[in-house]
Amino acid sequence: MGMSSWASCAVLLYLVLLLTPSCPILFLVTALPGNYLAADASTSWTNSLSAPDSVKFDDGSFARIILLSNFSDDSVATACGCGFICNQTCNSHHFAIFSLSYDYYDPDSVNISKSEGPKVVWSANPENPVSINATLQLTSEEGLALKDANGTTVWSTNIGSKSVAGLNFTDVCNLQLLDDKNATVWQSFDHPTDTLVVGQKLVAGQQLTSQGGLFSFSVTRQGFFAYINSNPPQRYLTYTSENTINIQFFKDNLAISSYGPILAWSLASKYFSNRYMRLGADNGHLEVYNVFWGEADNFFSRFIDSCGFPTVCGSYDAKAVVDVFKNPDYENHVISPILDDCRQLAATFQQIQFNHCYRQANRCVDMLARMGAEQELHFLMFNSLPVEVLSAFEDDCTGVYFNRLCPELDVVF
Ligand SMILES: *[C@@H]1O[C@H](CO)[C@@H](O)[C@H](O)[C@H]1NC(C)=O
Ligand SMILES: *[C@@H]1O[C@H](CO)[C@@H](O)[C@H](O)[C@H]1NC(C)=O
Ligand SMILES: *[C@@H]1O[C@H](CO)[C@@H](O)[C@H](O)[C@H]1NC(C)=O
Ligand SMILES: *[C@@H]1O[C@H](CO)[C@@H](O)[C@H](O)[C@H]1NC(C)=O
Ligand SMILES: *[C@@H]1O[C@H](CO)[C@@H](O)[C@H](O)[C@H]1NC(C)=O
Ligand SMILES: *[C@@H]1O[C@H](CO)[C@@H](O)[C@H](O)[C@H]1NC(C)=O
Ligand SMILES: *[C@@H]1O[C@H](CO)[C@@H](O)[C@H](O)[C@H]1NC(C)=O
Repeated sequence: MGMSSWASCAVLLYLVLLLTPSCPILFLVTALPGNYLAADASTSWTNSLSAPDSVKFDDGSFARIILLSNFSDDSVATACGCGFICNQTCNSHHFAIFSLSYDYYDPDSVNISKSEGPKVVWSANPENPVSINATLQLTSEEGLALKDANGTTVWSTNIGSKSVAGLNFTDVCNLQLLDDKNATVWQSFDHPTDTLVVGQKLVAGQQLTSQGGLFSFSVTRQGFFAYINSNPPQRYLTYTSENTINIQFFKDNLAISSYGPILAWSLASKYFSNRYMRLGADNGHLEVYNVFWGEADNFFSRFIDSCGFPTVCGSYDAKAVVDVFKNPDYENHVISPILDDCRQLAATFQQIQFNHCYRQANRCVDMLARMGAEQELHFLMFNSLPVEVLSAFEDDCTGVYFNRLCPELDVVF
């Protein structure tokens, strides 16, 4: 790993491409903390575990760092890197942007911390991993192109007829391709994967997809929505706002722009300023993290309680139906006749309440739902508890413990 005495000089890596197409490119490397680029670097980088700029981390991940950003404003102990990354057995590799930590700040000797594993904030090829000897190429016609070892293009920046003159890797992990007037031709911020970095926007039409693809969070002209990508996908968060243009993540708030005043939700912080927002692969939360990846806030909790998250209590079942039923203004030509029947029937009871209850957490409800699904009659009214449900009901009343996945749910009779 090369050391640099001019590590603290400047962040900007500026590449000047020769104007003749398909010529090799000349580098003007002003400075990079850690000096991860050799002075004679070409504009094609090969994925290799033995490249001089590769780092093995204690968590089992491995990165061949191609570019390193300057320190961020709010922390001299972290930076962004981009390059090839793999983990554990290293059978599959991605070209990614990730955050890195330094052991401690010392302008003359900056070592990347191996105990803090890199955290990926963007990936060019999340679904199409490449192998050793894959290459990343930078050309003025194509911008960046990722080619697998056998030459197949796995990913490239789609820049149309524009031409790329240089590359800038910002200290908030935005990889930008610039033209000869320094206008942005392409930037990773416009192609989010599962994470937003401070300052980044999600424009109507864009979405975050959690790692593995189970959840998505999308912004449209109608507002923002979160889905579990089951078949069919189910929505678990709805925020409607007509003519939404974008949402933007700031240190202290998340703002939504429509053709009207900008609305913002303030975000809690913890010890350090906020830096990342990630759609969780396992729980579908949109978690806010500080610059050291400490959890600071769960954005969706403003709109849904903990049991509203799809995986908290197992399968995400009939909550949508209950929500519809509780909303007297809801109309839908397919189900409105049934809804009207139910509302009429409900009106005949003096005291009635509708609450969603996850079946997995409530054996009575589960049994009743199964009976309902199997019975031949369209409608059946019981004057007392059906005998099949009695034992489960008694268990509930006497507090017999079952391994329920949703501790917050209280069953009240
Ligand atoms: C790089 O970061 C240092 C420390 O935060 C700052 O003083 C310097 O101006 C930065 N350089 C550039 C080019 O932004
Ligand atoms: C690598 O794997 C470890 C263990 O599964 C995990 O904790 C870590 O987050 C992974 N790192 C990356 C960069 O994927
Ligand atoms: C950086 O790493 C070098 C070589 O491993 C080591 O000699 C040096 O003490 C380290 N510096 C810091 C600040 O940890
Ligand atoms: C990668 O390329 C090098 C040099 O051409 C070759 O020696 C090596 O076997 C290749 N590695 C793999 C895994 O194909
Ligand atoms: C290159 O390798 C990939 C994955 O290993 C494979 O899917 C693809 O068909 C190969 N392409 C060619 C031209 O051999
Ligand atoms: C390159 O990125 C830095 C932030 O890290 C920014 O200040 C600078 O304006 C960018 N350069 C260009 C030409 O966009
Ligand atoms: C583009 O940005 C670089 C680095 O900041 C600068 O050296 C260069 O003069 C700029 N080019 C133009 C056309 O503004």
